[in-house]
Amino acid sequence: MKKLASLVIFAMVFYLFSCKNDVTDLTADNALIESIKEHSKTGELDWYIMPSSTDYANLPNQDPKNPVTAAKVALGKMLFFETGIGLNPNKTVSLTTYSCSSCHVPEKSFTAGRFQGIADGGVGFGVTGEGREKNAQYLGSEVDAQGARPLPMLNLTYVRNALWNGAFGSYGMNVGTDNAWGVTDPLTGINKEGLEGLEANNHRALITHRQVINKEVLDKLGYTPMFDEAFPNTHVNERYTLQIAANAIAAYFRTILTNEAPFQKWLKGNSEAMTLQQKRGAQLFFGKAGCVNCHNSPSFNNQRFAALGVKNLFQSGHEVFRTDENDARNKGRGGFTLRDEDLYKFKVPQLYNMKDVGFYFHGASKNSLREVVEYFNLAITENPDVPQDRIDPLFKPLGLTPSQVTDLTEFLENGLYDPNLLRYKPSFVMSGNCFPNNDTKSKLDMGCK
Ligand code: HEC
Ligand code: HEC
Repeated sequence: MKKLASLVIFAMVFYLFSCKNDVTDLTADNALIESIKEHSKTGELDWYIMPSSTDYANLPNQDPKNPVTAAKVALGKMLFFETGIGLNPNKTVSLTTYSCSSCHVPEKSFTAGRFQGIADGGVGFGVTGEGREKNAQYLGSEVDAQGARPLPMLNLTYVRNALWNGAFGSYGMNVGTDNAWGVTDPLTGINKEGLEGLEANNHRALITHRQVINKEVLDKLGYTPMFDEAFPNTHVNERYTLQIAANAIAAYFRTILTNEAPFQKWLKGNSEAMTLQQKRGAQLFFGKAGCVNCHNSPSFNNQRFAALGVKNLFQSGHEVFRTDENDARNKGRGGFTLRDEDLYKFKVPQLYNMKDVGFYFHGASKNSLREVVEYFNLAITENPDVPQDRIDPLFKPLGLTPSQVTDLTEFLENGLYDPNLLRYKPSFVMSGNCFPNNDTKSKLDMGCK
């Protein structure tokens, strides 16, 4: 009898508790829905929902000259990881040892797994890129490395102007910047060809990262039939080229979407996909913390540049190559457009799957998302070289309490985290080589024959 009574009481308490939870969740959901609608460009929640990766017709910002097809995606997915096209290294010892993915490792949300990526002139991989080092036979000035932390190859279909300074792409924010094309960086001359950002950038990247595409190479590695299938309407004289390889990689990029993240599932109507804490964090993102005032799109990137006064890579305290106080990258958008009002402004980046990256802002000056949130909360700049009157007026103290900082961090770390990015990594490349890297040390690290 006593046992039954306690069972009944337990059941009642359990019922009340779960009911209270439901009510709290419902209130949190409704408040969040209202805040989100206020910032949605259509006034509706679904503006923030990403398409499925195979819904090619609905992938935004495609280049009309390069519509996404399954054959292009399959080809781009291999070329991006192909070490066999690494045929233009600074020293022959590095032939076919590196790829695009040397600096864009899928396990690290397609960043390098370290503060700076090294492709040609690097050896080793570690577990997820953290073990890559300069080859002792190279001078620091000879390696392929850039003066910024690599951007993640995620949700790029929302990016119209590639790089932190937005230099690549003929449209979007680059309309009216023609006078700078080919001036500050000769490779930006490619914008004159009327290309979207990914198509222009990837062509540039294949050159910068010392890779070779031609009929002979493609025949040897076994890619020629894939080029034929993916680009049947391109004349054979133009088919086996850097630009066509760039187009295939761009198509692949447009399908890499974090559309299985809890917040995406929640937007699609699954209230339980996010925890109550993540919902509180999202409420802050769209409300009190004001993050959405800059980060506003399905990926939370934006066609907008802002100065936050963060450190540059050479100031980050890490050992870095090929960058110093004279690097044009330090000037941000202004280093490309040469306009005074663009000085020190960097692109508003996407925010999904940042938990795995480990180094934040263009100069890798922060090591956790909590530090990033605290930087925004205090709004005290860290780079003395950036004058205060250049700082974005929206960068101002937020007055978040420590528990609010925790909630917002939790939303970023786990609410915006797609746990299954490896679906975008190929199981092999045509050369049969190891990837992301193919040098002896990397192969040992990766357990690759
Ligand atoms: C040596 C390291 C390295 C290699 C190799 C590399 N990248 Fe990158 N990538 C970077 C860095 C660093 C950035 C950011 C640079 C900047 O914005 O100033 C970047 C940025 C990008 C962007 C811009 C993304 C955005 O959101 O604007 C794209 C696209 C890209 N890389 C594609 C490629 C492709 C395609 C290849 C191979 C052809 C490649 N990368 C190889 C380091 C690398
Ligand atoms: C004034 C516009 C603006 C506001 C407001 C803003 N951001 Fe950003 N955010 C940026 C820009 C620009 C960058 C890149 C800055 C750089 O690296 O130089 C950035 C970078 C980031 C990064 C690092 C991304 C990376 O690839 O390293 C995170 C995370 C982030 N913001 C989160 C937030 C959160 C959370 C909030 C709200 C508390 C917020 N941002 C508010 C403009 C803004």
